[in-house]
Amino acid sequence: MQVKKGQLVELDILDIAFGGRGLARIDGMAVFVDQAIAGDRVLARIVRKKKQYAEARVETLLSPSADRITPPCPYSGFCGGCKLQFLGYDRQLEFKRRHVAECLAHIGLVSDAVVHPALGSERIFEYRNKMEFSCSDRRWRLPCEMGQEGLDINFALGLHVPGTFDRVLDTQACLLQPEFGNRLLSEVREYMKSSGAPVYGLRSHAGFWRFLMLRHSVARDQWMVNIVTSAPDSAMLQPLADRLFSSHDQVVSVVNNVTASKAAVAFGESEHCLAGSPTIVDAIGPYEFEISANSFFQTNTRGAGRLYETIRQYADLRGTETVLDLYCGTGSIAICLSDRAARVIGIEMSPSAVADAVRNCERNRISNCTFVLGDMKDCLPRIDERPEVMIIDPPRVGMHKDVVRQVLAMGPEKIVYVSCNPATLARDLAELREQYKILEVQPVDMFPHTFHIEAVARLEKI
Ligand SMILES: C[S@@+](CC[C@H](N)C(=O)[O-])C[C@H]1O[C@@H](n2cnc3c(N)ncnc32)[C@H](O)[C@@H]1O
Repeated sequence: MQVKKGQLVELDILDIAFGGRGLARIDGMAVFVDQAIAGDRVLARIVRKKKQYAEARVETLLSPSADRITPPCPYSGFCGGCKLQFLGYDRQLEFKRRHVAECLAHIGLVSDAVVHPALGSERIFEYRNKMEFSCSDRRWRLPCEMGQEGLDINFALGLHVPGTFDRVLDTQACLLQPEFGNRLLSEVREYMKSSGAPVYGLRSHAGFWRFLMLRHSVARDQWMVNIVTSAPDSAMLQPLADRLFSSHDQVVSVVNNVTASKAAVAFGESEHCLAGSPTIVDAIGPYEFEISANSFFQTNTRGAGRLYETIRQYADLRGTETVLDLYCGTGSIAICLSDRAARVIGIEMSPSAVADAVRNCERNRISNCTFVLGDMKDCLPRIDERPEVMIIDPPRVGMHKDVVRQVLAMGPEKIVYVSCNPATLARDLAELREQYKILEVQPVDMFPHTFHIEAVARLEKI
């Protein structure tokens, strides 16, 4: 059958492909269908046609899959925050485990390693400790809002429509953050709208209000409100900060990040503390972490506890080992392993992350962790110690090939590889296999309703 852009086709969805799209086939050719899951029968419109595959959008759900559930969030299907909310959570976990196993088998040609069932998140809603809401002078309307009278279409504070930089929903509540965050979201929205100061235009790059970032400490049930603006203006911001700080005991920090950058990142070139403390404190296990607005911290605190427990089990330390923690970020893995190791050396290229790591060690009275600042491929060859154990937690792109060579040359007895991208995990494991047996892989779900999955692999020197 000839497939053309714009054509309407009836499709049976056979599987879920990575990215959360349904997979169907027309005469063998793959068709990726947005918002569809295995078991659905849909009438879909082809929106893109390439040589090897096509992409389609559901026009009518003819017969729903038995795995479909009614998503509790009214933005499901429109918002980039969650893409799998309409799939039952057990099925999400199965899909994520299978995705890890398939990447290992097809990309890494690793088919002998045990891939365990994915560990689920303790909470599947209200699990995020950090949310970033964007401001926009153009509100993206839901189908039910079309033609609605009195709707202010020139203001939005919320989450993006997937794959777009300028389409922002006016999110009234996000189920991924604790309920109190939604109260703060609505109070800040009201203040912004009545302030008289212009909201930022994502195309014009003009305007004052840019982002609202909320951080929650799970351990202490405290909040940080970070208001990101294009210029400093204490006369505009101080009344809002005073109101939030004085009327809510849970709000312990109100800061203002100021950025003139056109990039859509809620990160200021300067920061001003408007009320309370410039940081909040959260905990993973017995360890406390001081977090500033721009610090990296795992966004699912309880999930991070589960992830680090898996890392501890796989590292299986006796207390005598030297451990290298590659890509250590703010040192949270190093800190969580410090009581079971002789010493931990972390390597990281971000100066602010290393400063946070040092501060967090002091806070927890840990004296056997040290940190090296710099690019991994320059720093690793300069490490004199021969570690027995290496923890490797690289960014999504995985390890640089020179770093893989250096790891093989150092040859620790055990490696625990922590990955947020199954494809680069598989690629790097294929290289490490030269000298290591891949014993088992544990997927850990930190982000319910998204297609992201963390995986921890246990490797032993042959
Ligand atoms: C996935 S995060 C690791 C987070 C950390 N292990 C934790 O649990 O908090 C990856 C880290 O690698 C760092 N990084 C990225 N490229 C690097 C490089 N070439 N050399 C050193 N560090 C790098 C990033 O700054 C980031 O902190």
